[in-house]
Amino acid sequence: MIAGDAAGESGGPRILLGISGGIAAYKAAELVRRLRAGGATVRVVMTAAAQAFITPLTLQGVSGSPVRTALLDATAEAGMDHIELARWAEQVLVAPATAHLIARLAHGLADDLLTTLLLATAAPVTLAPAMNQQMWLHPATAANIALLQARGVQLVGPEAGEQACGEVGPGRMAEPATIAAALLAGVAPAGQPALDQLARPLQGRRVLLTAGATHEALDPVRFIGNRSSGKMGYALASALAGLGAQVTIVSGPASAPPPPDLSLLRVESALEMHRAVMQRVAACDLFVAVAAVADYRPADPAAVKLKKGAAELELRLVRNPDILGEVAALPRAPFTVGFAAETDDLERHAAAKLAAKRMQMIAANLVGPAAAGAGFSADDNALLVLWRGGRQALPRLPKADLANVLAGLIAARYQVFIDGNDDAGAS
Ligand code: CTP
Repeated sequence: MIAGDAAGESGGPRILLGISGGIAAYKAAELVRRLRAGGATVRVVMTAAAQAFITPLTLQGVSGSPVRTALLDATAEAGMDHIELARWAEQVLVAPATAHLIARLAHGLADDLLTTLLLATAAPVTLAPAMNQQMWLHPATAANIALLQARGVQLVGPEAGEQACGEVGPGRMAEPATIAAALLAGVAPAGQPALDQLARPLQGRRVLLTAGATHEALDPVRFIGNRSSGKMGYALASALAGLGAQVTIVSGPASAPPPPDLSLLRVESALEMHRAVMQRVAACDLFVAVAAVADYRPADPAAVKLKKGAAELELRLVRNPDILGEVAALPRAPFTVGFAAETDDLERHAAAKLAAKRMQMIAANLVGPAAAGAGFSADDNALLVLWRGGRQALPRLPKADLANVLAGLIAARYQVFIDGNDDAGAS
């Protein structure tokens, strides 16, 4: 038995609703009612934990179809087996999606009927996360969500507010009306962002990002440089583009390959990077300074190759312009994100830079012996992200994964900034 011939098929969209085990599961009956009122045919699959919060009988009653709860169920499989069910669905919705369900989906586990269906379906998947706010903010959950979004999974919510556990913060499941509207029309009701906007929160925003090192010429063949590989900047540029942003990279020398599909302007020195940024900054909404810019340059670079002679050679250095500092101080400054590499006392130094340079966010990491294999030119990194009134420590992850999580944080803080609720001011 496949699509269309089940009793009660309405001709509307065929939605497979997965319910995982969180307190918000009690709202699933109302969600099914709203989806059906909007013309959808709904089939329900519940995890074992979900049944502790709401019974299959209730969902059978409101959906008008038998509810599936187990993978190895000979009677149910003899009707519409799980592969047929995965093919039947035109959309798959998981509401509530717990942290555990999200983790299992992110890692491709198929240890029950719902996770098996999520792997077996070719239909678009939408999650309505619901969990305690600490669990939602945990870097493991953030990394899983970023991974799933990169694979095209869409999110509705979660919303911020008072939670069942008594805490206040993000993690409350979106209301059934919001979820149903998002699923049925691809847009949420008035006042709510469209579904596409939830997955691509930086759609239409212009990002200018610096990456790589700078080379400060001593003579035509020698320079003072640093070990920046460009990996973190390029990964972040790709992650921001994945959230819908139009990204321009101003890159100094870097050993990593740049993202092939983004606009890239190559420069050598801090002065060239400064000029390139200042020419473009008025046309950007966000400025992200990942480049390791030399603070000083040789005062008098030689026009011809320096010849060895005396036993000692003294170099006189002069200060380079502080690109990030200048951008953040502009009268109509974009949302500005800086990086800081520190060998010690990470949080104190980063907080001081956040305040001194008047940027909206700073991502700080340890370098040198304290970093133990992370940081410059490594494949992994760990970051401490600070903004005025908030912080989030991102665990050691491959730079591409870390960039996805950081891009999500930047998008979230940017939204607060343009809504005018940022302490740092949106003017
Ligand atoms: N930056 C910049 N222009 C410079 C120097 C740094 O735009 N001339 C940016 C970097 O891209 C990075 C941040 O500023 O986002 C680093 O801040 P900064 O205070 O300059 O860090 P350090 O140079 O490490 O400072 P210090 O040596 O004082 O620790």
